[in-house]
Amino acid sequence: MKQLTPREIVSELDKYIISQKDAKRSVAIALRNRWRRQQVAEDLRDEIAPKNIILIGPTGVGKTEIARRLARLANSPFLKIEASKFTEVGYVGRDVESMIRDLTELAVNMVRSEEQEAVKTKAEGIAEERMLDILLPPKREPDKDAEGEEKTLELVRKDGTEQSSTREKIRKMLRGGKLDNRYVDLEVAERTMPVVEIFSSVGLEEMDINLKDMFGNMFPKKTRKRKVKIPEGMEILTQEEAQRLVDMDKVVKTAIAKVEQSGIIFLDELDKISSREGTHGPDVSREGVQRDLLPVVEGSTVPTKYGMVKSDHILFIASGAFHTSKPSDLIPELQGRFPIRVELKSLGKEDFFRILTEPKNALVLQYKALVKTEGIDLVFKDDAILAVAEIATEVNERTENIGARRLHTVMERLLDEILFQASDLSEQEIIIDAMYVYERLKDIKDDEDLSRYIL
Ligand SMILES: Nc1ncnc2c1ncn2[C@@H]1O[C@H](COP(=O)(O)OP(=O)(O)OP(=O)(O)O)[C@@H](O)[C@H]1O
Ligand SMILES: [Mg+2]
Repeated sequence: MKQLTPREIVSELDKYIISQKDAKRSVAIALRNRWRRQQVAEDLRDEIAPKNIILIGPTGVGKTEIARRLARLANSPFLKIEASKFTEVGYVGRDVESMIRDLTELAVNMVRSEEQEAVKTKAEGIAEERMLDILLPPKREPDKDAEGEEKTLELVRKDGTEQSSTREKIRKMLRGGKLDNRYVDLEVAERTMPVVEIFSSVGLEEMDINLKDMFGNMFPKKTRKRKVKIPEGMEILTQEEAQRLVDMDKVVKTAIAKVEQSGIIFLDELDKISSREGTHGPDVSREGVQRDLLPVVEGSTVPTKYGMVKSDHILFIASGAFHTSKPSDLIPELQGRFPIRVELKSLGKEDFFRILTEPKNALVLQYKALVKTEGIDLVFKDDAILAVAEIATEVNERTENIGARRLHTVMERLLDEILFQASDLSEQEIIIDAMYVYERLKDIKDDEDLSRYIL
């Protein structure tokens, strides 16, 4: 995987996120710094702490999106968690460490499926042989008896070549999809046992660590015969073989290294735990949560069911609106661990216009693709998109500012009729212009109560 420079990272992020240049810059620097740290001589390397970031900005302006895209770019294990979750009733201090456990679990799954993908061709090959064995069970060698040894050998040879040519014929049919409607009987492993599910959902995390292994060994693996169509059977066999080919010890080792060296935890709603007073009610003291967070953010060694995982170099990206509290309300130790603060600006009409059209996954493109499946080209005139941007901005100003999320509600409302009718229409093209937009949305936009409920 190529290591991107900060400039390249920003331009990758530009493909999905409009504006918010400062935020993109700082996350790009943070990501590049991890690579830089890897290049530094070992004794100093361990001293270099990640420069964690706080993204400050109102709702719906791209905070989560930036972090998520960043993680994808870096191919890093990425976990998003609400800091406020830890202030809930029933919370116990040790829970904070659960984010490291979750991140590790995630990384293991990530690496495992990468590894399985890598052995896929090989697994497919083995699966094919197994399928052929099922379709044409290999003949057992006839018992050798003392007298006719020569004769029998002859027979085997003849039989063997015959058998193998039939096998090749069936292989051809199998590959050509000629057998796709045939059924075979397969031994398949039973799903996880219900007992384990019950226990682990109680949330006894420490127990959970050994429970699955314990039970796994206690009950022999159950298998069950199933009748499946051949293509599904091939998939099951390939999956099984891929699992068998992957070296789980290696997967776990790689995964833990990935978490420790490149994991990213996105700590949402940091502002909700940042005021220093506010210890009323049944909520756990916010300062208490900050204190619990501290060791994990500063770096500690957390036991997971895959082994010990060090959190020292995990990158934390926190985010929050910080309307009523400020980062300076955080306890000093935590402030020091989040040295980079970036503000994201609230989005206006021009931003909305661009958000609707420019990103690779832009809303307008999504709706066009959806309607295209009904054989209809949905054409948006520029003035229509501008009108949507304008209405979204207005509604944000008059009711509540939910940022770019407003575009989703406005677009859904705008296209409601078309989405309902598209399947019955004979048109090949529907053109949406500003007129159409205003017609569809004017009443709702002008009535504050209505827009509060509908948009
Ligand atoms: N600057 C932007 N460019 C493109 N899309 C954006 C932008 N900001 C927000 N969006 C879109 O709006 C939606 C919400 O954005 P996101 O989840 O990043 O909000 P947020 O800033 O994390 O808000 P919150 O504080 O509520 O968590 C996403 O679908 C995202 O794609
Ligand atoms: Mg968010």
